[in-house]
Amino acid sequence: MWKIGNVELKNQVVLAPMAGVCNPAFRLIAKEFGAGLVCAEMVSDKAILHGNKRTKEMLFVDEREKPLSLQIVGGDRETLVGAAKVVDQCTNADIIDINMGCPVPKVVNNDSGAKWLLDPNKIYEMVSAVVEAVDKPVTVKMRIGWDEDHIYAIENAQAVERAGGSGIAVHGRTRVQMYKGKADWNIIRDVKQAVSIPVIGNGDVASPEDARKLLDLTGCDGVMIGRAALGNPWMLYRTVEYLTHGTLAPDPTASEKMRIAILHMDRLVSLRGESVAVREMRKHAAWYLKGLRNSNIIKDAVNEQETRDGMANLLLGFAEQVEKNEAEADAKAV
Ligand SMILES: Cc1cc2nc3c(=O)[nH]c(=O)nc-3n(C[C@H](O)[C@H](O)[C@H](O)COP(=O)(O)O)c2cc1C
Repeated sequence: MWKIGNVELKNQVVLAPMAGVCNPAFRLIAKEFGAGLVCAEMVSDKAILHGNKRTKEMLFVDEREKPLSLQIVGGDRETLVGAAKVVDQCTNADIIDINMGCPVPKVVNNDSGAKWLLDPNKIYEMVSAVVEAVDKPVTVKMRIGWDEDHIYAIENAQAVERAGGSGIAVHGRTRVQMYKGKADWNIIRDVKQAVSIPVIGNGDVASPEDARKLLDLTGCDGVMIGRAALGNPWMLYRTVEYLTHGTLAPDPTASEKMRIAILHMDRLVSLRGESVAVREMRKHAAWYLKGLRNSNIIKDAVNEQETRDGMANLLLGFAEQVEKNEAEADAKAV
């Protein structure tokens, strides 16, 4: 058990915030698969203050997802503080996270996301202002620096701590790297050693064993998992098991995978209605299918589905075929 501010976390595994992915449908699955903390996708401060229907949906937190961290992004002090107050007073989130890592031009050109990585003073000023305005614990998710010549991870993390931040998640890449190269876990370790608030390490954790390695190398309080959990919430469950008991749970069967994919879709349907949900499900289905032999043969069919039942039948039919082929191959081998 560890804590971010007053929020108790039952294990070290954290689902990373992922735009277009971490809505209540997937977050609840992540929670059911054991994640100690789930993070919501980023929401822009101005959108929160504008308060349209879609943004209000993005702020919805199901009681069963808690503890949950809700991420805001913005570059302007007044709107960031205003948005943080809305999250503080009007949502069920437990933690308010500030995005300081988003590398996309639209965000950094707005003086937000990874742009802050160049200026520890701005970080101090913005985080202080948010911390003063809210009751919930405030954390920051950052990259290690802007580019390899501007790696201010330690100064930036210390600015967060001085400003009253309750925790930091560090993705071990620079802004310029985007998702290329390898995450530098040594710099995450340096950050952990430089501050006394909790630090969550992030970047390139692709297996439960990687999670153990990152925690051992860095001494971090938690490990954040992003891409490896896409279509694969078992990654979260298997990591919790491995970190807690040292055992590696078996990989899911094709049918188990498709059953959870369909649960995911059904939850998306409840959130967004069938038409939008099934379209959104196409990318998730591709992720759930990853690693299953010959799954490329249904790729086009997945992208053509318009209905819940059509998608469900396609996925279940494929899983049946995979398992039949495996059984036949096993029988031949005997
Ligand atoms: C599809 C996608 C969406 C993302 N959206 C966000 C986001 O909204 N906020 C954020 O801080 N990071 C976001 N990230 C970055 C991840 O949280 C994480 O830092 C990154 O993927 C590295 O971790 P990984 O190697 O475990 O994937 C996103 C990543 C992906 C792949």
